[in-house]
Amino acid sequence: MRAVLVGPPGAGKGTQAQFIASHLAIPKISTGDIFRSNVTSGTMLGRRAKDYMDRGDLVPDQVTIAMVTSRLQEDDAQAGFLLDGFPRNVPQAETLKKMLSDWDTRLDIVLELVVDDDEVVRRLSGRRTCRRCGRVWHATFDPPSHRDRCDDCGGELFQRDDDREDTIRHRLDVYAQQTQPLIAFYADEGTLLGIDATGPVEEITDRALAALRRFIR
Ligand code: AP5
Repeated sequence: MRAVLVGPPGAGKGTQAQFIASHLAIPKISTGDIFRSNVTSGTMLGRRAKDYMDRGDLVPDQVTIAMVTSRLQEDDAQAGFLLDGFPRNVPQAETLKKMLSDWDTRLDIVLELVVDDDEVVRRLSGRRTCRRCGRVWHATFDPPSHRDRCDDCGGELFQRDDDREDTIRHRLDVYAQQTQPLIAFYADEGTLLGIDATGPVEEITDRALAALRRFIR
Protein backbone atom coordinates (compact mmCIF):
# COMPACT_ATOMS: atom_id res chain seq x y z
CA MET A 1 0.00 0.00 0.00
CA ARG A 2 1.31 3.43 -1.00
CA ALA A 3 -0.76 6.04 0.77
CA VAL A 4 -0.75 9.72 1.73
CA LEU A 5 -2.45 11.37 4.71
CA VAL A 6 -3.52 14.94 4.07
CA GLY A 7 -5.30 17.43 6.32
CA PRO A 8 -4.76 20.70 8.14
CA PRO A 9 -2.21 21.12 10.93
CA GLY A 10 -3.58 19.34 13.98
CA ALA A 11 -6.02 17.15 12.03
CA GLY A 12 -4.40 14.16 13.71
CA LYS A 13 -2.20 12.98 10.83
CA GLY A 14 0.72 12.05 13.09
CA THR A 15 -1.56 10.45 15.70
CA GLN A 16 -3.36 8.33 13.11
CA ALA A 17 -0.25 7.58 11.04
CA GLN A 18 1.44 5.79 13.94
CA PHE A 19 -1.53 3.39 14.39
CA ILE A 20 -2.31 2.92 10.67
CA ALA A 21 1.32 2.23 9.73
CA SER A 22 1.62 -0.32 12.50
CA HIS A 23 -1.65 -2.08 11.52
CA LEU A 24 -0.61 -2.25 7.86
CA ALA A 25 3.07 -3.03 8.63
CA ILE A 26 4.38 -0.21 6.43
CA PRO A 27 6.73 2.64 7.42
CA LYS A 28 5.26 5.99 8.40
CA ILE A 29 7.25 8.72 6.68
CA SER A 30 6.60 12.10 8.28
CA THR A 31 8.42 15.05 6.73
CA GLY A 32 7.72 17.15 9.86
CA ASP A 33 9.31 14.47 12.10
CA ILE A 34 12.36 14.15 9.83
CA PHE A 35 12.84 17.93 9.79
CA ARG A 36 12.42 18.18 13.60
CA SER A 37 14.93 15.41 14.24
CA ASN A 38 17.43 17.19 11.96
CA VAL A 39 16.82 20.48 13.79
CA THR A 40 17.48 18.73 17.12
CA SER A 41 20.70 17.15 15.92
CA GLY A 42 21.84 20.39 14.27
CA THR A 43 22.44 18.97 10.76
CA MET A 44 22.72 21.17 7.66
CA LEU A 45 19.19 20.07 6.67
CA GLY A 46 17.88 21.08 10.10
CA ARG A 47 19.60 24.48 9.92
CA ARG A 48 18.05 25.08 6.48
CA ALA A 49 14.55 24.11 7.67
CA LYS A 50 14.38 25.69 11.13
CA ASP A 51 13.43 29.29 10.31
CA TYR A 52 10.68 28.21 7.92
CA MET A 53 9.26 25.78 10.49
CA ASP A 54 9.34 28.31 13.33
CA ARG A 55 7.37 30.78 11.18
CA GLY A 56 4.92 28.07 10.04
CA ASP A 57 5.97 28.40 6.39
CA LEU A 58 6.75 25.53 4.05
CA VAL A 59 10.40 24.54 3.72
CA PRO A 60 11.46 25.14 0.08
CA ASP A 61 10.45 22.36 -2.32
CA GLN A 62 14.01 21.70 -3.48
CA VAL A 63 15.09 20.78 0.07
CA THR A 64 11.93 18.80 0.92
CA ILE A 65 11.77 16.84 -2.32
CA ALA A 66 15.45 15.80 -2.12
CA MET A 67 14.87 14.55 1.43
CA VAL A 68 11.73 12.55 0.51
CA THR A 69 13.29 11.10 -2.66
CA SER A 70 16.14 9.74 -0.63
CA ARG A 71 13.86 8.37 2.12
CA LEU A 72 11.56 6.59 -0.36
CA GLN A 73 14.55 4.73 -1.81
CA GLU A 74 15.36 3.06 1.51
CA ASP A 75 14.72 -0.69 1.72
CA ASP A 76 11.79 -0.50 4.15
CA ALA A 77 9.76 1.70 1.75
CA GLN A 78 9.97 -0.63 -1.26
CA ALA A 79 6.84 -2.63 -0.43
CA GLY A 80 4.77 0.39 0.62
CA PHE A 81 4.63 3.47 2.82
CA LEU A 82 2.37 5.97 4.52
CA LEU A 83 3.36 9.59 3.86
CA ASP A 84 2.39 12.13 6.54
CA GLY A 85 2.94 15.79 5.62
CA PHE A 86 4.09 15.22 2.02
CA PRO A 87 3.10 16.31 -0.56
CA ARG A 88 2.08 19.72 0.71
CA ASN A 89 1.56 21.62 -2.55
CA VAL A 90 0.84 20.79 -6.18
CA PRO A 91 4.49 20.92 -7.38
CA GLN A 92 5.41 18.35 -4.67
CA ALA A 93 2.45 16.17 -5.75
CA GLU A 94 3.52 16.37 -9.42
CA THR A 95 7.06 15.41 -8.46
CA LEU A 96 5.86 12.45 -6.37
CA LYS A 97 3.67 11.24 -9.23
CA LYS A 98 6.58 11.40 -11.69
CA MET A 99 8.95 9.72 -9.22
CA LEU A 100 6.58 6.80 -8.59
CA SER A 101 5.84 6.46 -12.30
CA ASP A 102 9.61 6.23 -13.00
CA TRP A 103 9.64 3.37 -10.47
CA ASP A 104 6.65 1.71 -12.24
CA THR A 105 4.26 2.33 -9.41
CA ARG A 106 1.71 4.87 -8.17
CA LEU A 107 -0.20 6.02 -5.11
CA ASP A 108 -3.11 3.80 -4.06
CA ILE A 109 -4.99 6.36 -1.98
CA VAL A 110 -4.84 9.84 -0.52
CA LEU A 111 -6.79 9.93 2.72
CA GLU A 112 -8.03 13.36 3.78
CA LEU A 113 -8.66 13.92 7.51
CA VAL A 114 -11.50 16.43 7.69
CA VAL A 115 -11.67 18.68 10.78
CA ASP A 116 -12.58 22.37 11.31
CA ASP A 117 -10.24 25.25 12.31
CA ASP A 118 -11.54 25.69 15.89
CA GLU A 119 -10.90 22.03 16.67
CA VAL A 120 -7.39 22.36 15.17
CA VAL A 121 -6.54 25.28 17.49
CA ARG A 122 -7.88 23.32 20.51
CA ARG A 123 -5.81 20.29 19.57
CA LEU A 124 -2.55 22.08 18.78
CA SER A 125 -2.54 24.40 21.77
CA GLY A 126 -2.64 21.35 24.10
CA ARG A 127 -0.28 19.11 22.14
CA ARG A 128 2.76 17.66 23.95
CA THR A 129 5.38 15.54 22.19
CA CYS A 130 7.90 13.13 23.70
CA ARG A 131 11.49 14.21 23.09
CA ARG A 132 12.70 10.60 23.22
CA CYS A 133 10.17 8.43 21.31
CA GLY A 134 8.10 11.07 19.45
CA ARG A 135 4.76 9.86 20.90
CA VAL A 136 2.14 12.62 20.69
CA TRP A 137 -0.05 13.45 23.74
CA HIS A 138 -2.66 16.10 24.50
CA ALA A 139 -2.88 17.93 27.83
CA THR A 140 -6.68 17.52 27.93
CA PHE A 141 -7.80 14.98 25.28
CA ASP A 142 -5.05 12.38 25.80
CA PRO A 143 -3.14 13.33 28.95
CA PRO A 144 -0.11 11.37 30.20
CA SER A 145 -0.25 10.24 33.86
CA HIS A 146 2.61 12.63 34.77
CA ARG A 147 2.38 16.14 33.31
CA ASP A 148 5.85 16.35 31.73
CA ARG A 149 6.73 12.67 31.18
CA CYS A 150 5.83 10.19 28.43
CA ASP A 151 3.96 7.12 29.76
CA ASP A 152 5.46 4.97 27.00
CA CYS A 153 9.18 5.63 27.53
CA GLY A 154 9.56 8.12 30.41
CA GLY A 155 10.97 10.77 28.03
CA GLU A 156 10.48 14.50 28.61
CA LEU A 157 7.42 16.08 26.96
CA PHE A 158 7.76 19.40 25.16
CA GLN A 159 5.53 21.90 23.34
CA ARG A 160 6.49 22.53 19.71
CA ASP A 161 7.77 26.04 18.85
CA ASP A 162 5.21 26.29 16.02
CA ASP A 163 2.25 25.52 18.34
CA ARG A 164 1.79 29.14 19.52
CA GLU A 165 -1.65 30.49 18.60
CA ASP A 166 -0.37 33.13 16.11
CA THR A 167 1.81 30.55 14.34
CA ILE A 168 -1.07 28.03 14.29
CA ARG A 169 -3.28 30.64 12.54
CA HIS A 170 -0.50 31.29 10.00
CA ARG A 171 -0.08 27.53 9.37
CA LEU A 172 -3.83 27.32 8.70
CA ASP A 173 -3.49 30.12 6.12
CA VAL A 174 -0.57 28.34 4.50
CA TYR A 175 -2.65 25.15 4.43
CA ALA A 176 -5.59 26.92 2.77
CA GLN A 177 -3.43 28.60 0.15
CA GLN A 178 -0.87 25.93 -0.69
CA THR A 179 -2.09 22.51 0.47
CA GLN A 180 -5.88 22.71 -0.03
CA PRO A 181 -5.43 22.70 -3.86
CA LEU A 182 -4.13 19.14 -3.47
CA ILE A 183 -7.66 18.03 -2.61
CA ALA A 184 -8.87 18.93 -6.12
CA PHE A 185 -5.65 17.54 -7.65
CA TYR A 186 -6.16 14.10 -6.07
CA ALA A 187 -9.93 14.15 -6.62
CA ASP A 188 -9.16 14.54 -10.35
CA GLU A 189 -6.70 11.64 -10.12
CA GLY A 190 -9.44 9.49 -8.55
CA THR A 191 -7.36 8.64 -5.47
CA LEU A 192 -8.93 10.96 -2.87
CA LEU A 193 -11.07 9.73 0.01
CA GLY A 194 -12.14 11.99 2.89
CA ILE A 195 -13.11 10.83 6.37
CA ASP A 196 -14.52 12.69 9.38
CA ALA A 197 -11.53 13.13 11.73
CA THR A 198 -13.52 14.22 14.80
CA GLY A 199 -14.39 11.97 17.73
CA PRO A 200 -12.30 9.45 19.69
CA VAL A 201 -8.89 8.58 18.21
CA GLU A 202 -9.69 4.81 18.04
CA GLU A 203 -12.89 5.43 16.06
CA ILE A 204 -11.01 7.57 13.55
CA THR A 205 -8.36 4.83 13.19
CA ASP A 206 -11.14 2.31 12.45
CA ARG A 207 -12.65 4.64 9.83
CA ALA A 208 -9.23 5.21 8.26
CA LEU A 209 -8.36 1.50 8.15
CA ALA A 210 -11.75 0.65 6.63
CA ALA A 211 -11.15 3.26 3.91
CA LEU A 212 -7.55 2.18 3.24
CA ARG A 213 -8.38 -1.55 3.09
CA ARG A 214 -10.67 -0.90 0.12
CA PHE A 215 -7.59 0.22 -1.82
CA ILE A 216 -5.13 -2.55 -0.91
CA ARG A 217 -3.88 -4.08 -4.17
P1 AP5 B 1 4.20 18.83 10.35
O1 AP5 B 1 4.87 18.24 11.51
O2 AP5 B 1 3.81 17.95 9.21
O3 AP5 B 1 2.99 19.71 10.89
P2 AP5 B 1 1.46 19.82 10.43
O4 AP5 B 1 1.07 19.33 9.09
O5 AP5 B 1 1.20 21.25 10.69
O6 AP5 B 1 0.77 18.81 11.27
P3 AP5 B 1 0.90 18.66 12.78
O7 AP5 B 1 2.06 17.75 13.10
O8 AP5 B 1 0.88 19.99 13.47
O9 AP5 B 1 -0.51 17.99 13.13
P4 AP5 B 1 -1.05 16.53 12.91
O10 AP5 B 1 -2.11 16.56 11.87
O11 AP5 B 1 0.07 15.53 12.73
O12 AP5 B 1 -1.76 16.33 14.31
P5 AP5 B 1 -1.34 15.45 15.58
O13 AP5 B 1 -1.56 14.01 15.29
O14 AP5 B 1 0.01 15.84 16.10
O15 AP5 B 1 5.12 19.98 9.71
C1 AP5 B 1 5.76 20.95 10.51
C2 AP5 B 1 6.52 21.92 9.62
O16 AP5 B 1 7.52 21.21 8.85
C3 AP5 B 1 5.67 22.64 8.56
O17 AP5 B 1 5.02 23.78 9.10
C4 AP5 B 1 6.75 23.00 7.54
O18 AP5 B 1 7.51 24.09 7.94
C5 AP5 B 1 7.63 21.76 7.54
N1 AP5 B 1 7.19 20.75 6.55
C6 AP5 B 1 6.71 19.50 6.82
N2 AP5 B 1 6.40 18.87 5.67
C7 AP5 B 1 6.68 19.74 4.65
C8 AP5 B 1 6.55 19.66 3.24
N3 AP5 B 1 6.07 18.58 2.63
N4 AP5 B 1 6.93 20.74 2.52
C9 AP5 B 1 7.44 21.84 3.10
N5 AP5 B 1 7.57 21.99 4.44
C10 AP5 B 1 7.20 20.94 5.22
O19 AP5 B 1 -2.49 15.89 16.62
C11 AP5 B 1 -2.50 17.22 17.16
C12 AP5 B 1 -2.98 17.16 18.64
O20 AP5 B 1 -4.34 16.73 18.67
C13 AP5 B 1 -2.19 16.15 19.51
O21 AP5 B 1 -2.00 16.69 20.78
C14 AP5 B 1 -3.11 14.92 19.58
O22 AP5 B 1 -2.97 14.23 20.81
C15 AP5 B 1 -4.52 15.58 19.49
N6 AP5 B 1 -5.49 14.73 18.82
C16 AP5 B 1 -5.29 13.92 17.73
N7 AP5 B 1 -6.44 13.29 17.39
C17 AP5 B 1 -7.38 13.74 18.28
C18 AP5 B 1 -8.78 13.46 18.45
N8 AP5 B 1 -9.43 12.61 17.65
N9 AP5 B 1 -9.44 14.09 19.45
C19 AP5 B 1 -8.79 14.96 20.29
N10 AP5 B 1 -7.47 15.27 20.18
C20 AP5 B 1 -6.78 14.65 19.18
